[in-house]
Amino acid sequence: MSGIQGKVIAITGASSGIGEATAHHLAERGARLVLGARRRERLDAVVDAVAARGADATGVVVDVRRREDLRLLTDTALERYGRLDVLVSNAGTMAVSPFDELRQDDWDAMVATHVTGLLNGIAAALPVFRRQGAGQFVNVGSTAAYVVRPPQGVYAATKAAVKVLTEGLRQEAGPDLRVTLVSPGFTHTEGVGKGAGPEVAAALVRRRDEIAMPPSAVASAIGYAVAQPDGVDVSEIVVRPTAQD
Ligand SMILES: NC(=O)c1ccc[n+]([C@@H]2O[C@H](COP(=O)([O-])OP(=O)(O)OC[C@H]3O[C@@H](n4cnc5c(N)ncnc54)[C@H](OP(=O)(O)O)[C@@H]3O)[C@@H](O)[C@H]2O)c1
Repeated sequence: MSGIQGKVIAITGASSGIGEATAHHLAERGARLVLGARRRERLDAVVDAVAARGADATGVVVDVRRREDLRLLTDTALERYGRLDVLVSNAGTMAVSPFDELRQDDWDAMVATHVTGLLNGIAAALPVFRRQGAGQFVNVGSTAAYVVRPPQGVYAATKAAVKVLTEGLRQEAGPDLRVTLVSPGFTHTEGVGKGAGPEVAAALVRRRDEIAMPPSAVASAIGYAVAQPDGVDVSEIVVRPTAQD
């Protein structure tokens, strides 16, 4: 199988930003979508928007921190379409803060969402891909894993974990599965600065509005990796605005 047409693709964090843009990009190219996120109304709006353009899509309320929610996502794909071709693990939270603020709940949320959440997706999809003898993981990292800047230490560490887990999984995946890391730089989404303290949030939003690329740029990168033929693994894509150092 190559291309995007007809593929069954599950996306976490599909209710806004990069996940939403990816849903549109893949839907326009004929993918069948199972979309997951926590905010039911926002998720339904994305499902309705892609469906209005003729795509086959369904939404599942999932919190990636919960193992059973990821199983519900993959089970929904199997029940509805009989298979799962791609899992895009994109859900994330960018509640960055200086260490001195000791925002431990935000630290925990980033670890739970990016690290445990990714592992929950792997545990749910890997047995399905093994049974099928085919499947692709697309994991959304960040340029923060490559260049650490204050006050992004915890966020960067969790995204470094995403990078390492993706490479470890790729090496164990064998010839039938594909494993892709897509690491975006500054992207114009509502998640930038969300949950951060007022000063940090204001600075991030200002910088976002100056230099960020549209989420469709990341969606195109994901689409490129998905569209390659079965035997071709695009292992890593870093996509950032030209103005980002
Ligand atoms: N924007 C950037 O500059 C940038 C740069 C590099 C990497 N990234 C990464 O790109 C990914 C998407 O972020 P974004 O920029 O598109 O921000 P966003 O618009 O805030 O999107 C984040 C998505 O993740 C979902 N989500 C958060 N926690 C979740 C959980 N526990 N379970 C399920 N879904 C959850 C959110 O939906 P609900 O709230 O409805 O659950 C939302 O759909 C993240 O992994 C982020 O770290 C972003």
